Amino acid sequence: MEKFHLFFCIMVLALSSFSKKATVHGGMNTTGINHVKGIVGAILDYSFRIGKEEKVAMEMAIDDFFNHTNQSFILQLKYSQGEPIKAALFPSPPLVAATDLINTQRVQAIVGPRTWEEASLVAEVGSQSNVPVLSLADPTPPWATKRWPFLIQASPSQQAQIKAVAAVVQSWGWRRVILIYEDTDSAAIGVIPHLPGALQEVGAEISHFVAIPPLASSSLSEELEKLNRQQCRVFVVHSSLPLALTLFETAKKMKMKMMEKDYVWITTNSTASLVHSIINKATAISSMQGVLGVMSNFPETGPEFQDFHPRFRRKFSAEHPEEDNYEPGIFALQAYDARWAVALAMMETNESGQQLFDKILLTDFNGLSGEIQFTEQKLAPGNVFLIINVIGKSYRELGFWSDGGLGFSESIDEGAIYNADIENLLQVFWPGGASD
Ligand SMILES: *[C@@H]1O[C@H](CO)[C@@H](O)[C@H](O)[C@H]1NC(C)=O
Ligand SMILES: *[C@@H]1O[C@H](CO)[C@@H](O)[C@H](O)[C@H]1NC(C)=O
Ligand SMILES: *[C@@H]1O[C@H](CO)[C@@H](O)[C@H](O)[C@H]1NC(C)=O
Ligand SMILES: *[C@@H]1O[C@H](CO)[C@@H](O)[C@H](O)[C@H]1NC(C)=O
Ligand SMILES: *[C@@H]1O[C@H](CO)[C@@H](O)[C@H](O)[C@H]1NC(C)=O
Repeated sequence: MEKFHLFFCIMVLALSSFSKKATVHGGMNTTGINHVKGIVGAILDYSFRIGKEEKVAMEMAIDDFFNHTNQSFILQLKYSQGEPIKAALFPSPPLVAATDLINTQRVQAIVGPRTWEEASLVAEVGSQSNVPVLSLADPTPPWATKRWPFLIQASPSQQAQIKAVAAVVQSWGWRRVILIYEDTDSAAIGVIPHLPGALQEVGAEISHFVAIPPLASSSLSEELEKLNRQQCRVFVVHSSLPLALTLFETAKKMKMKMMEKDYVWITTNSTASLVHSIINKATAISSMQGVLGVMSNFPETGPEFQDFHPRFRRKFSAEHPEEDNYEPGIFALQAYDARWAVALAMMETNESGQQLFDKILLTDFNGLSGEIQFTEQKLAPGNVFLIINVIGKSYRELGFWSDGGLGFSESIDEGAIYNADIENLLQVFWPGGASD
């Protein structure tokens, strides 16, 4: 790790003089705005669904904040290009973006990016310049907030979902599962190391670990054939949506049709929380029929979301007619909340740097994604997960799983009835069309 760190420092130094060359993307007309309360930066990858939703949500947050408080902020957006650090690419895009935001655009805080590889680079630059960085990257290693004093983890820890996955496995009494996961740094520090223990606690085990390299597709059918020779028919899939789709399409086409009766597929949050983006995409959704998913829940029935939802759809459809549908996912709400938290803190303090950072850490409000509060520089994780089941052109919400000894329930309203047994929820539509 030390070598890694040194590498950062050298790159950051090299960039201090280099930053003017970076391209400015996004941003607003700042002429004549001298009542502006602050400048906030964001590093996104808007070539993908997540970044597109985040951009729209952050712009809405700035507008809404102005409507509520008469305080305006300038939003400086940068494109991260999505690629994690490639050693050959020097300096790497997120690093250029962060340096440029800080040195040229003079932002007081940065939100994003989404991958841990990118977030660590941005955190390094931010911490060197005393600029708070609100990372939306899912898994962040526990030591990160100690190493980078200006890093705030503004999306919940991925680990919270592990118990929900284990509860689903336990509820049907499955003893063995096969774990298929995308072999990324994120997986290695997030869910994967903790899943075996969680399953063990409910009397189940992982019979096979199958790591698939990102973007792999050629080896998938071979891999699936091998797995099909095992007795185990319960699969847990932890991967990005694109890889999961390739996997399901491959499984469906196989001679031993693995998307048929007697097979069980459970996807974790990284796939499930993006399923909304493929509604209406016939080939994709048809290859996922019967798949179960465990995903982050958000207060969909609250007045804030009800107000946000139609406005988001309108703006998103206008900016992204190419998308198959215009529903916001949890990550849009997280980006909105992170942006809101920064704006609130800036409104309350005229200082940048340490004071602003301290103020952000005191954040306490009910956001669109849930309660926004930080403990040790980390967003307190939600303890409710939604269990979904893909069917027809879309998916059904089977119900919820809540931590703290509560278990499964059809609703989480006051007076909801909780049960350790998932079978009290809606009937599952299994692969091959079987309902039981
Ligand atoms: C920026 O705004 C000012 C004042 O509103 C306007 O006069 C100017 O034309 C705008 N510039 C651009 C590039 O839009
Ligand atoms: C802000 O408020 C005005 C007046 O109430 C309204 O017309 C406008 O649509 C609002 N903008 C947003 C982004 O909510
Ligand atoms: C914002 O400013 C407008 C016009 O100056 C005023 O009518 C409105 O009440 C203000 N809103 C808030 C929330 O302060
Ligand atoms: C679920 O995935 C989404 C999209 O990547 C992410 O924004 C959210 O933080 C994740 N939630 C958990 C608990 O991992
Ligand atoms: C911040 O600065 C503005 C104008 O410079 C001033 O009116 C306001 O009182 C200051 N707020 C705080 C909390 O210091």
